[in-house]
Amino acid sequence: MNHDFEEFYAYAEEILNHPIFLTQKHYFHHTTNLYEHSILVAYYSFKVAKKFNLDRRSIVRGALLHDFFLYDWHVEGKKRKYPILKKHGFTHAQRSLINANFYFALNSKEKDIIKKHMFPLNMFIPTTLESWVVNIVDDALTYLEYFKEDIKSFKILTYIKTRKVL
Ligand SMILES: [Fe+2]
Ligand SMILES: [Fe+2]
Repeated sequence: MNHDFEEFYAYAEEILNHPIFLTQKHYFHHTTNLYEHSILVAYYSFKVAKKFNLDRRSIVRGALLHDFFLYDWHVEGKKRKYPILKKHGFTHAQRSLINANFYFALNSKEKDIIKKHMFPLNMFIPTTLESWVVNIVDDALTYLEYFKEDIKSFKILTYIKTRKVL
């Protein structure tokens, strides 16, 4: 059994099994969905946190909730003609933080991760190493998704399925 997967799951379990978080499966994100995207960002951020002895629990929980905005941004973007600063890229981090605060009890590091994951597009500069890690891992995963890496074959996703939450 993979100890990394087990440790990751222990930190992630409350959020992964939450009925509102499960709705992330219905929101398309490049070549995958927000449920899988969030797990991958959280898992690879956790791996970096482990290597550099950062706060693993906070990084997993903050990363899982970084895109917890709860709407389909492709549909919303076409429907509403917002001025540029009110478009998804500029507002979804704050929306995700409001939603995450509503459903979960978050610590200050977890809040910082969510609020600042879109820096430099948003002008909130990450103030913890954990926030910087999620910011960079999110960009890297999004890049992989754009170029159609086979996201579904990532082993962490297969493992989560065996825990019967996907
Ligand atoms: Fe985001
Ligand atoms: Fe993201």
